[in-house]
Amino acid sequence: VLGYTQKKPIYLLERPSNNVFAKNILIASGFHGEEPAGPWGLLHALESMDSCLLDTVNISVLPLVNISGFCVGQRLNHHSENPNRGFLPLLDDVSASEEARILMHHEVMLTDLGRDGVLSCHEDLSRSSTYIYANESGPAPSQLALKMRDSHAQFFSLQGDGLLDGCKLNDGIVFNHPDSSFEAWLHLCGAASSYCTETPGLADFEPRVRASAAMVKTFIECHM
Ligand code: NI
Repeated sequence: VLGYTQKKPIYLLERPSNNVFAKNILIASGFHGEEPAGPWGLLHALESMDSCLLDTVNISVLPLVNISGFCVGQRLNHHSENPNRGFLPLLDDVSASEEARILMHHEVMLTDLGRDGVLSCHEDLSRSSTYIYANESGPAPSQLALKMRDSHAQFFSLQGDGLLDGCKLNDGIVFNHPDSSFEAWLHLCGAASSYCTETPGLADFEPRVRASAAMVKTFIECHM
């Protein structure tokens, strides 16, 4: 338990591998309480994956970050704070939420647990097509970023190019957009790469869960 909000625990679950060369990946979901396909997709992926395959990576999971928002199906937490902003306050002048402060208190540990890759599962409720955010060190999206995008594109059409909430979207990927999100923060702290996936909230719920699960599986398989 990393901390409590409204007396409810923010859990960090760890599943270490026996292989000393195994990669460290961190998967988070439930930052926004009205985006349920993230946590349900993560659960579906972990329940349905072969445990022998899971043994090849060190997986850590933050299954539900914004518990107070999720319980009532609202985006923000019970203080009306955005749990996925304020990790890098200089970037957008937003102070850290209660959840962000708890996670930032564990910066060194979370950076280590996600040193080879971080994934955060979101939804965009206003859209019927999909896209991802990728934070990487190279000049262009890596093969992993393309695989993550394509894993979603099996289920939904890709959002067209253009400006999206102030971010430049190209071929279904917002690449290295500076903001104060959890995923941008951990990449800056030292995680090799980080991704945020957005299933389309205007689509039916079941394919959104299956798409989230497929993307979690792709992320894990790419680090085996
Ligand atoms: Ni979100």
